[in-house]
Amino acid sequence: MSAAFNPKDKIRRFHHVALEVSDMAASINFYCDVFGYQLTEQHEASEVPAIPVELAFLRLGENHHDMVLSTDPNKNYRARDDRDDREGPVAIHHVAWQCESRESWLEMIEHVKNLGLEIVRGPVVHSAWQEGGEGSWGENESFYVLDPDGHKVELFCDMATIADDGVFVSHKGQRIEEAKALEY
Ligand SMILES: [Fe+2]
Repeated sequence: MSAAFNPKDKIRRFHHVALEVSDMAASINFYCDVFGYQLTEQHEASEVPAIPVELAFLRLGENHHDMVLSTDPNKNYRARDDRDDREGPVAIHHVAWQCESRESWLEMIEHVKNLGLEIVRGPVVHSAWQEGGEGSWGENESFYVLDPDGHKVELFCDMATIADDGVFVSHKGQRIEEAKALEY
């Protein structure tokens, strides 16, 4: 008898986000400069009739794309303002990138500063258990910058993993017995 179908066994992992941007050139520069993305393809709106937006496909490695940027030439974009935190359509809260190591993450802090970007949050330890943690979740260390449209971009390292019994395991392999995943 075959095992019961579980969709999580069919999914490898979440793969990419297609972020809507108001200025394609500015956003290509941002993501290529900050992260080292390479531009695989860039296309005008309606090159394919079913796709009325301009698209850019960005890659970090050998995949055709790891991220997509989209902009609609028929849409009047406006800059984000303070009201957007309290009213408006649902939006993406933040998009996150994992660094290779804590050393890499520290280098990325210097890198974004050298690019003249403001760190709008952090560096912060997302933890209620680790020394210096701010009480938030994931056990990772993070900082945040904004892209040209104000999309919040997180760079992090050292997120916890979850053992089979639900206990959190730090990036150093230590079980945090007080910290347990929900059972849903
Ligand atoms: Fe996050």
